[in-house]
Amino acid sequence: MNTKDTGASGSVTWQSPSNIALIKYWGKTDPQIPKNVSISFTLSNCNTQTTVKYRPKSSISEDFDFKIFFDQKENQSFRRKIEQFFERVVPYIPFIRNYEFEIHTGNSFPHSSGIASSASGMSALALCLMSIQKSMDPHLSEIDFNQKASFLARLGSGSAARSIEGPLVVWGQHHSIFKSSNLYGTKYSGEIHDVFTSFQDTILLVDKGEKKVSSTLGHKLMLGHPFAESRFEQAKDNMNRLIAILKNGELDSFIDIIEREALSLHAMMMTSDPYFILMKPNTLEIINRIWNFRELSGCHICFTLDAGANVHVLYPDKDKKAVRDFIDKELVQFCQNGQFIHDNVGNGAKLL
Ligand code: PMV
Repeated sequence: MNTKDTGASGSVTWQSPSNIALIKYWGKTDPQIPKNVSISFTLSNCNTQTTVKYRPKSSISEDFDFKIFFDQKENQSFRRKIEQFFERVVPYIPFIRNYEFEIHTGNSFPHSSGIASSASGMSALALCLMSIQKSMDPHLSEIDFNQKASFLARLGSGSAARSIEGPLVVWGQHHSIFKSSNLYGTKYSGEIHDVFTSFQDTILLVDKGEKKVSSTLGHKLMLGHPFAESRFEQAKDNMNRLIAILKNGELDSFIDIIEREALSLHAMMMTSDPYFILMKPNTLEIINRIWNFRELSGCHICFTLDAGANVHVLYPDKDKKAVRDFIDKELVQFCQNGQFIHDNVGNGAKLL
């Protein structure tokens, strides 16, 4: 890409969503290359809004020059992460050495809710940097813009590669998915049954504490894990099955794959060295209640989990009323301070 550095100042704001993986990414090699394909629903209500103000540096220096504000307050704890991100992306957007930045960021979901903000946060920042690049290179096409934004976001946090577009995004090479890549996420190009474009996700906040196992450590635990190769094969097979389901809308099979993926991810952590149990008693209680309710009501409700104790309750729009009543009556009692977030499948990041 031919970037002309025009030396202009300005400000840009993006709102970028979180995502929830259906086929999970767990295990990577440098530089942020996934060991298996993953696919996620892009969310809508859980998002990060980031404004980047930029202007040419007043004096030449090799250091990255930025300030970061979280919820309007200058925040030192994110500095190291952003610095590391800048180090990784500077070969692809060298102009960042010539500018000073003020980064203002905030999440729509409560701070330390146990919801990972790295996907929405890193994708929002990558998009802002790409907008600055576009101001220097106005001919950049939308396809190239999104692809490079995802590429940069991936270098900040793997799952952030899947937070640029929607409703379904694939990251990681898979023989049956056209243009799938290990380097960036791509909007899923296969046929998608209507039922999946309005899917609901209620996130039950079971444990709002700091993550017990960082995803960096979690991914590392897959190197040399006795079941790693079978897990990577399983993800590939599940993706094959899911391609057919996304087309035909068959929800019983969908549920089977989604829950199997969540439990496999946790099984990997329970059998790694060292081993971890990331579910809490309330996580299991919620899972059992979901299974009972599914049996009794016939609703197509299921759960998925990230690398933590919170539960994502997934259900089609047609079951929204019944499931939400069930959540209010039976599941809220297992959430920390009764907190949960209703979300749904969304269409990706927005330039504000
Ligand atoms: O993007 P990371 O490195 O925080 O890893 C995220 C991994 C999972 O959320 C557990 C699964 C996934 O595919 O999003």
